[in-house]
Amino acid sequence: MIKKCLFPAAGYGTRFLPATKAMPKEMLPVVNKPLIQYGVEEALDAGLSEISIVTGRGKRALEDHFDISYELENQIKGTDKEKYLVGIRRLLDECSFSYTRQTEMKGLGHAILTGRPLIGDEPFAVVLADDLCVNPEGDGVLTQMVKLYNQFRCSIIAIQEVDPQETNKYGVIAGDMIRDDIFRVTNMVEKPAPEDAPSNLAIIGRYILTPDIFDIIQNTPPGKGGEIQITDALMQQAQNGCVIAYKFKGQRFDCGGAEGYIDATNFCFENYYKTGKAY
Ligand code: UTP
Repeated sequence: MIKKCLFPAAGYGTRFLPATKAMPKEMLPVVNKPLIQYGVEEALDAGLSEISIVTGRGKRALEDHFDISYELENQIKGTDKEKYLVGIRRLLDECSFSYTRQTEMKGLGHAILTGRPLIGDEPFAVVLADDLCVNPEGDGVLTQMVKLYNQFRCSIIAIQEVDPQETNKYGVIAGDMIRDDIFRVTNMVEKPAPEDAPSNLAIIGRYILTPDIFDIIQNTPPGKGGEIQITDALMQQAQNGCVIAYKFKGQRFDCGGAEGYIDATNFCFENYYKTGKAY
């Protein structure tokens, strides 16, 4: 059973400056909820209630968000505004939250390694909260991935087809097709130029990792951009054993940039806010 979900949230969010100068990117609101809340809801829906967040300097708003605000609770008690807090209260009731700090931004692989003391020796999920994933028709993306993990018992990474001209924004895989939406990974390249990309199947911000990944990351030298890349560690894991790439059902919005953020906002406004499902 997977119970833990790690949220690396220490990055600087430079694509969203100046909004992210004093505020964590993960606290950017999509309509009425911050990005990280959508991620935690998706985790809890998948049965992952032990939430671990890797933060950094200037990220304390994340901890305050997942805490009771007594003054506020007191102020709105018994009024019709209480409904606004129903969703976040459920998360506080049903999840536990633990935090650790990444003191130097050495990349996503390093951020995941920083979370090791919170995760221990068990399989866990990783959510990059700036990738907002929705699947109004059925299971959330993490729920789909947990089901797949229970079948394959190895690391699972979420992928989607992207414009071949945009491979340089992603980790890109090559793999042997097991089913039309499942691949056994044979190659993985971080942010390849279109002419060097092994496919147009891009890794997005949802992973399930087996705990041997920690030792692998520890022995992974800095890669592209001088950062410790999770892609490099996963490639090692794929060579040693098995990594499954899964074309998930649903939609993913890259909320780390303006275009995806606006699309996510429009989507959530139409599908959740206007329909009364936003709290
Ligand atoms: P990004 O590549 O989106 O980096 O990281 P970023 O710094 O957040 O944003 P930009 O590109 O400068 O605009 C992917 C995820 O990994 C986390 C980020 O917080 C984000 O959720 N991350 C990245 C860390 O926690 N630590 C790092 O050293 C790097």
